[in-house]
Amino acid sequence: MKMNENTLLEGHKVMLVPYSAEHVPRYHEWMKSTELQQLTASEPLTLEEEYDMQRSWKEDSDKCTFIILDKRQWEDSGVEEEQCMIGDVNIFLTNPLDLSLAELEIMIAEPTYRGKGIGKEVTHLMMQYGVAKLNIQKFQVKIGLDNGISIAMFKKLQFQEVSVCQVFKEVTLEMMVDESVRTRLRSCTSHMRERDYRLSRSSRRDIMSQT
Ligand SMILES: CC(C)(COP(=O)(O)OP(=O)(O)OC[C@H]1O[C@@H](n2cnc3c(N)ncnc32)[C@H](O)[C@@H]1OP(=O)(O)O)[C@@H](O)C(=O)NCCC(=O)NCCS
Repeated sequence: MKMNENTLLEGHKVMLVPYSAEHVPRYHEWMKSTELQQLTASEPLTLEEEYDMQRSWKEDSDKCTFIILDKRQWEDSGVEEEQCMIGDVNIFLTNPLDLSLAELEIMIAEPTYRGKGIGKEVTHLMMQYGVAKLNIQKFQVKIGLDNGISIAMFKKLQFQEVSVCQVFKEVTLEMMVDESVRTRLRSCTSHMRERDYRLSRSSRRDIMSQT
């Protein structure tokens, strides 16, 4: 969607930036992994299809996506942005008649970054963005039954299991955004800063070119 095309969300460990064409080659490499295809229920795409997908994430009003960057690496202006990428996080507005319902997806693609609290931080940041900017009232996640880590994470975040589909071998978990959830999200993300992505990137590039 257009709304986040110039948005940078800064957390403790991560920066979330809009998915742009320059991120596609690394993303495409990640998705060659059969483990990631299975964990995220994704089909492999050609590089050309991945560029089409990136354009659709940017243009379509029912999709909001951010690329997750390692903040420490990004702050080291000697490192190209593509090298700071560690995953992505998405919101899909799955029901055109109910734009307050969002399906959430997250992938920490780089295995060495898993198990360090990044999945939890990113999920909180994305949920707060969804609530504050898109007025989301209900979040849903669909997770493969064999993806115990992801199921454990969303249960830890207080999502409730609502159904299991044996045919697709997946479980659906949900969270209604009531006042207590709003308060908790605001508190978990009180450190979040929203910045202008283009400005931040060009000042980073200026520093790179001077060194
Ligand atoms: C699932 C995923 C997003 C979790 O992110 P992460 O950064 O590894 O998770 P975190 O370190 O933030 O941990 C969050 C919670 O997940 C659970 N968890 C994390 N690693 C775990 C492990 N090895 N075993 C069991 N539970 C684990 C715990 O409940 C943990 O909370 P706690 O640390 O308070 O106990 C990440 O592992 C991932 O992207 N995996 C590959 C793609 C994928 O499966 N995406 C989800 C598709 S639905």
